[in-house]
Amino acid sequence: MKNNLCRISGNKLIKINNFGKQPLGNGFLYEKDFADEYFFEMETGFCNESKMFQLLSQPDPNKMFHENYAFYSSTSNKMKDHFKKWSEEIFLSDNFNKNSFVIELGSNDGIFINNFSEKKIKHLGIEPSKNVADVAIKNGNNIITEFFSSRLADSIIKKHGKADYFFSANVMCHIPNILDIAAGIEKCLNTKGILSFEDPYLGDVIKKITYDQIYDEHVFLFSAHSVENLFNKVGMELIKLEPQKTHGGSMRYTLGKKNEHKKDDSVHYYFEEEKNNGVDNLDRMLEFNKDVLKSKYELNKLLKRLKSEKKKIVGYAATSKSTTILNFCDIGPEIIDFICDTTPIKINKFSPGKHIPIKDMDEFSRYKPDYALLFAWNHAEEIFEKEKDYSNKYGNWILFAPEARIL
Ligand code: TYD
Repeated sequence: MKNNLCRISGNKLIKINNFGKQPLGNGFLYEKDFADEYFFEMETGFCNESKMFQLLSQPDPNKMFHENYAFYSSTSNKMKDHFKKWSEEIFLSDNFNKNSFVIELGSNDGIFINNFSEKKIKHLGIEPSKNVADVAIKNGNNIITEFFSSRLADSIIKKHGKADYFFSANVMCHIPNILDIAAGIEKCLNTKGILSFEDPYLGDVIKKITYDQIYDEHVFLFSAHSVENLFNKVGMELIKLEPQKTHGGSMRYTLGKKNEHKKDDSVHYYFEEEKNNGVDNLDRMLEFNKDVLKSKYELNKLLKRLKSEKKKIVGYAATSKSTTILNFCDIGPEIIDFICDTTPIKINKFSPGKHIPIKDMDEFSRYKPDYALLFAWNHAEEIFEKEKDYSNKYGNWILFAPEARIL
């Protein structure tokens, strides 16, 4: 269903990008299912009042998050380290003590909440995708396998009491009924309770032209302006902002109930920074669309040239992000021989929409492609370290952002 109205203000959205027909970002599939594949028109819009950048329409959440959800957070060691470090910062913070109760929204396979359960901290994870939740449960975490809502918040409070901390990483930007979620979080927190969440940052996406962060699951790309406008509606406010390197540029937003905490200087700093860089500005968003179209043209030009020279090209990592690039740029198996990946439930399937075969990492080593298009560019450091042999002896890496280039 098309939604032309801002999910925060209710105002009409101004269209920014049109990515055409897109399948599910994580919809890796077998050949027998090609004929029934689901597609939707993927367009983005911006609201001049709430400053929220968002998808116009999004598939039904049950299509995206289910018992076969293909994304396991713990596939990246760097992300494991990131969450461990974050938990250590929390353990040292003034608001935390050994009796604190913490809730995590979208706990996936437990990559973050493990750090609390291991220390016997009272915790609760909320994760609607059963397959990933089961991994966390097996590792000794308390998890509810349901979608969060303000109604679920009531039953959580009844059963467990109010929380001191509410966390979420790379989840809030997935949830269309975000106002109800915000209201639920506000209810779950005690008076001095803290919400801290991270998501890909709009400021980085428009600067680096990493438009692949836009796919079915990411209904929002947040900024300080839009997060403040959203949470003000439920009586909360930003108290700290911390940029993160994860996912190619994320922001950690820390919020509390209004007038209950001192605001860190970072709040003023990032508000000014966003105004200076147009992150709150419609014209800048329209400029971003022009950058995206140019990026598409340049990537096609580069890949077609390499193909005409009979080079062997593969994709490296079957990320959900790659679904946007491949379908928007119309790049299929005629250009990319296969995509290699470490995730067992993706291997031997095909990529959503363009149906490029997904193979394991042994195939990457065996095939020795001339070029590897790095779809997991956000894990570049970790991957280049692992693939030194490939870089030194056999092949080259292609990056698509901010412009298509051979490294
Ligand atoms: P990520 O960028 O976190 O994914 P998404 O765009 O889906 O949010 O990358 C996760 C995918 O990348 C996952 O399919 C596993 C794959 N991957 C590898 O194949 N090798 C690696 O070294 C890393 C870090 C990820």
